[in-house]
Amino acid sequence: MLPDSRPMSHSVGTITTFVMPHMQNVLGDLFGGELMALVDQAAAVAAIRHAGGPAVTASIDRVDFRERIPVGSLVSCEAAVDFVGNTSMDISVEVYAEWVSTGERRLTHTAHVVFVAIDETGKPTRVPRLVPNTDEERARYTRAEAQRLSKRPA
Ligand SMILES: CC(C)(COP(=O)(O)OP(=O)(O)OC[C@H]1O[C@@H](n2cnc3c(N)ncnc32)[C@H](O)[C@@H]1OP(=O)(O)O)[C@@H](O)C(=O)NCCC(=O)NCCS
Repeated sequence: MLPDSRPMSHSVGTITTFVMPHMQNVLGDLFGGELMALVDQAAAVAAIRHAGGPAVTASIDRVDFRERIPVGSLVSCEAAVDFVGNTSMDISVEVYAEWVSTGERRLTHTAHVVFVAIDETGKPTRVPRLVPNTDEERARYTRAEAQRLSKRPA
């Protein structure tokens, strides 16, 4: 049975991969569309863990591309559920690139994604409440709640 609530830490998910030649753009860097697919996959991991079942992407409303990631780098997408509504989940994704030759690791992209949990008929279904347990988690929760409220039509 689905729990009434889950701690924020339960849903944290990371996917890591090498930037392979088939993922590059004409400049020899990770193609933006490939990056967005990785962001979506990482967010799906967090959403499905929190929901305890299937969930779909409802919106990707922001992706900030701060730096190019060259082919051959390691790229990690770290996703966490920051806030939930009844059936929706606000997920932040941080992308880190690691330059294999130097071991240097930098935050290169950030994204905000909304997933919605669905039942076996494809209809939105309720998710557990989200419980932040650390100061950092409480700050993320409060920030995400304020962002969601700011988007509501007046
Ligand atoms: C996302 C989807 C399940 C919403 O279904 P719906 O019947 O329109 O949903 P409702 O209007 O009842 O809203 C349900 C929740 O989704 C949220 N939602 C719906 N559309 C949204 C959007 N574009 N952005 C953010 N949240 C959205 C609502 O705010 C609501 O949240 P709450 O329950 O926490 O208050 C449906 O539109 C869908 O299946 N879309 C296709 C998804 C898809 O193909 N994704 C890519 C492959 S995974």
